[in-house]
Amino acid sequence: MDAYQEAAEILAHAKRAVAFSGAGVSAESGIPTFRDPGGIWDKFEPEEIGTVPALLRTAQDNPELIRQFLLDTVTVFERSEPNRAHQCVARLEKMGIVVAVITQNIDGLHIEAGSQNVIEVHGSLLRGRCLACDRQFPLQRDTLFKRAHEMLDDESGFSIDKVALILPTCSCGGVTRPDVVMFGESVQRIQDAFQVAALCDVMLILGTSGVVYPAAACPGEAYKAGAKLIEINPNEKCFGTMTNVFIKASAERAMRTLMERVKNRIAEGTKKPNG
Ligand code: OAD
Repeated sequence: MDAYQEAAEILAHAKRAVAFSGAGVSAESGIPTFRDPGGIWDKFEPEEIGTVPALLRTAQDNPELIRQFLLDTVTVFERSEPNRAHQCVARLEKMGIVVAVITQNIDGLHIEAGSQNVIEVHGSLLRGRCLACDRQFPLQRDTLFKRAHEMLDDESGFSIDKVALILPTCSCGGVTRPDVVMFGESVQRIQDAFQVAALCDVMLILGTSGVVYPAAACPGEAYKAGAKLIEINPNEKCFGTMTNVFIKASAERAMRTLMERVKNRIAEGTKKPNG
């Protein structure tokens, strides 16, 4: 049996599968990963922009680097759309196979593809958070990117103070920021993530190097609880002997084939014997 058939067999019998995704699932939506060649941590140093203090320091010393980083980020995210892999994960939820998605991505593409139960452990670019009262609120995608461009293209020059003006002021009067997790900050909803991981019977892992904790511990939680692990990555397998089935392919290609096989397997299972 090939890896796709094996994975389809497991998924077709799953009662509460959980998808666990990283940057690789959005690579084919045009968003570079972090650690692949050309990725964010290949182009920029985490020590320069990875934490809030580093970002503020670099904004003083080298504002053009921050402007370039923000411009790259805005340009990439505004063009991105869910790809077939996000859509297939959403479809598996509608079919009653997947019960939750745990994602390390901040791009909102699982939600845009139609997944309902998404745990965004590293936050979302499409959400703001008040620094005074901690209220979270949705950001309108088009408005956000339009205002970001106005600020980044402003010929009077760039300064970090102007970044705060992109986001609306909170109803309490407080300053707000994008609700994304930077290094050194607390991850979001990690207990919810661990809980669904520990209750799942299958974990479908898509496009993550699994090196950033605590999120990277989710597959281990699922494994400890007896779940089967299916891992999709065009490069290396990242979860070693915990992975039951490894599909060495890009997320879109893998999910397109896997969906076909799952549907066929379910159709075969519902056929009456002898005809
Ligand atoms: P990484 O860049 O570390 O890993 C991306 C993974 O996706 C690699 O294993 C690639 O081989 C794989 N990949 C590349 N192209 C792919 C494709 N088309 N289909 C499927 N897989 C593909 O990204 P993450 O694992 O998401 O955290 O990184 C985890 C965290 O590190 C991020 O959430 C971010 C980062 O620093 C914070 O910013 C807090």
